[in-house]
Amino acid sequence: MAVGQGNGAVAARAVEALTEAEAREELARLAAEIGRANEAYHLLDAPEISDADYDALRRRNAAIEARFPKLKRSDSPSDQVGATVAEGFGKVAHRVRMLSLENAFDDADVADFEARVRSYLNHSGPLALTAEPKIDGLSLSLRYEGGVLVQAATRGDGEVGENVTDNARTIADIPHSLTDAPEVLEVRGEVYMSHADFAALNTRQAEAGGKTFANPRNAAAGSLRQLDATITAARPLRFFAYAWGEVSAPLAATQFAAIARLKALGFVTNPLTTRCETVAAALDHYRRIEADRAGLGYDIDGVVYKVDDLALQARLGFRSATPRWAIAHKFPAELAWTDLLGIDIQVGRTGALSPVARLRPVTVGGVVVSNATLHNEDYIAGRDSRGQMIRAGKDIRLGDRVQVYRAGDVIPKVADVDLSHRRTDAQPYVFPDTCPECGSPALREEGDSTRRCTGGLICPAQAVERLKHFVSRHAFDIEGLGAKQIEMFFRDADLAVKAPADIFTLAERDAANPLRKLKNRDGFGEVSTRKLFAAIEAKRSIPLDRLIFALGIRHVGEVAAQVLARHYGTWEAFEEAVTTAEEGSPAWEGLLSIDGVGRTLAGSLVAAFRNPAERAAIDALVAQLTVQPVVWKAATESPVAGLTVVFTGTLEKMTRAEAKARAEALGAKVAGSVSAKTDLLVAGPGAGSKAKEAAKLGVRMIDEDAWLALIGDA
Ligand code: IVH
Repeated sequence: MAVGQGNGAVAARAVEALTEAEAREELARLAAEIGRANEAYHLLDAPEISDADYDALRRRNAAIEARFPKLKRSDSPSDQVGATVAEGFGKVAHRVRMLSLENAFDDADVADFEARVRSYLNHSGPLALTAEPKIDGLSLSLRYEGGVLVQAATRGDGEVGENVTDNARTIADIPHSLTDAPEVLEVRGEVYMSHADFAALNTRQAEAGGKTFANPRNAAAGSLRQLDATITAARPLRFFAYAWGEVSAPLAATQFAAIARLKALGFVTNPLTTRCETVAAALDHYRRIEADRAGLGYDIDGVVYKVDDLALQARLGFRSATPRWAIAHKFPAELAWTDLLGIDIQVGRTGALSPVARLRPVTVGGVVVSNATLHNEDYIAGRDSRGQMIRAGKDIRLGDRVQVYRAGDVIPKVADVDLSHRRTDAQPYVFPDTCPECGSPALREEGDSTRRCTGGLICPAQAVERLKHFVSRHAFDIEGLGAKQIEMFFRDADLAVKAPADIFTLAERDAANPLRKLKNRDGFGEVSTRKLFAAIEAKRSIPLDRLIFALGIRHVGEVAAQVLARHYGTWEAFEEAVTTAEEGSPAWEGLLSIDGVGRTLAGSLVAAFRNPAERAAIDALVAQLTVQPVVWKAATESPVAGLTVVFTGTLEKMTRAEAKARAEALGAKVAGSVSAKTDLLVAGPGAGSKAKEAAKLGVRMIDEDAWLALIGDA
């Protein structure tokens, strides 16, 4: 019998007594029952069972899964965050991306930040910064049009967030209307919950037999992302404004004044925001905030520094995911000691063998940690990648008492080991030299701490990780096809998704299979299968840069993929270049002439295309696709869009990095060397061989001032 409803009577059989068949059946029933309860609670606002019964169902489900891990369903309630039904929110495309921040962990990192800013701008004068607490909540973007709040959206992946307008309207700190605001104003900031409100909420929840939250951040997130805004309204959320997105008129000339303006408009801004004339002053403020941290009444996890001058911010601009003009100086990580129960070796997409510590679960900074990374075999042995001692040379052995730390949202790490707890019979850990997944030799390259499986695509772990990468957010991003489904489709003999091309033949193969149709399997149904096939179909046409990134070739990250796509423009041109690029050939030189492509990356690309198995997989995939050529973003507006530009000599008004970023933002390609394909050489004083080459080839040459005039920055 399953868990009883209503009064919480549990007439269930002990989990230990269940047979596999019974367990499977009960997991199916629990998934349905919990699903119904979720729907009743979140969508219909008509809870059918008490929170205590609901929790009992989830606990029973988890207990059965723990005993029969193999039976865990792809739609397991354990993988669904209790309070949130994310599919229910509409999507909002952010007009200005919502970025994250680069982190600094000590004063030296902050000094590096300043040095990078100065070097990028070639700026040696005063450089004021603002310093303010980094609130540990979740970010929210509020859009006002004509002074009226029209939309609120979560960050999501930075480009597309969730529409939580109704919920945001219930937060007292968020004004519904503004006077004297720009026509369009997007205010960004953090939704959070105070310690006192969090404690009171948890008490109320516990008294009502409801679920309690692990920390204020989770409580804030769970409360904001409620489909039913009346639930949000009953939760004490707050909001600090600290940034902005789209604005129809500038708020001010400095960050500090802009924040003051937001305050004047009626937003709550953090009172600990200050303007610091120097980095030293900013570091002083960091220490003051750190000292006051416990008494603030809300969680913060560091201090954010921002370049105060907004004109400098605009020049600094953004990298792919973070602004160059800001950094988060994190507070030291939280630490805890626990036992190392085992070491698992995970095999990644590029064959890297990564040791993962299995730990006796321990709470580190409010989160239960049971796994942590051990980096690589040298790290376990007590050496860094150059053979230097770390941890005073102490190695890590099974059964050891180890120190674990967590900094921000990064993966927990094992930092130290307590030798006084070591068992006398503990043996040094022997790192495998064959792949635990496919048995192929696992080798280390000269100067590399990582041991890699040499099995390539014959290694099931590499193959499946590649597939996960292939469907991931910045690659093909196929809705409804995530890591979990990939695992299932890979292992299932009928579905047999072994390589990317198989994803695009799935619908056809499923239609031809009379017996085991996808729609009849656990976690799938008529509608979800139809949706999945439609989502796959929609990605048959794919932008070139996404395709290159999705191939998962070592060293070819998102930025490199964009650079390559922009350079070659079409799949045909890219493929031809990489296929014919032998060391020393014109195609090889062409590849190396691309700014941002070095020998390692080029070598890795060429090797992948030359490997017969890889090549066959790529060809089979491309045969299924329509690859969209690169469209120049600013093509119609910018006079340099589509041109290949080379900078040489000394630039006096801007640094090389700034010039390159600016040119690319205007749709130009920036190359590292002059060739017949170069359209324009921008030459400063001291230009040498590149200028000669350009003259020889008849390439148009201009100086820095002419360049600035051309792009309208003069
Ligand atoms: S500025 C373009 N200021 O930290 C950068 N972010 O780790 C805009 N955060 O996504 C962010 N307190 O959610 C900024 N005072 C603060 C912040 C802050 C918290 C969050 C924000 C951001 C994340 C990055």
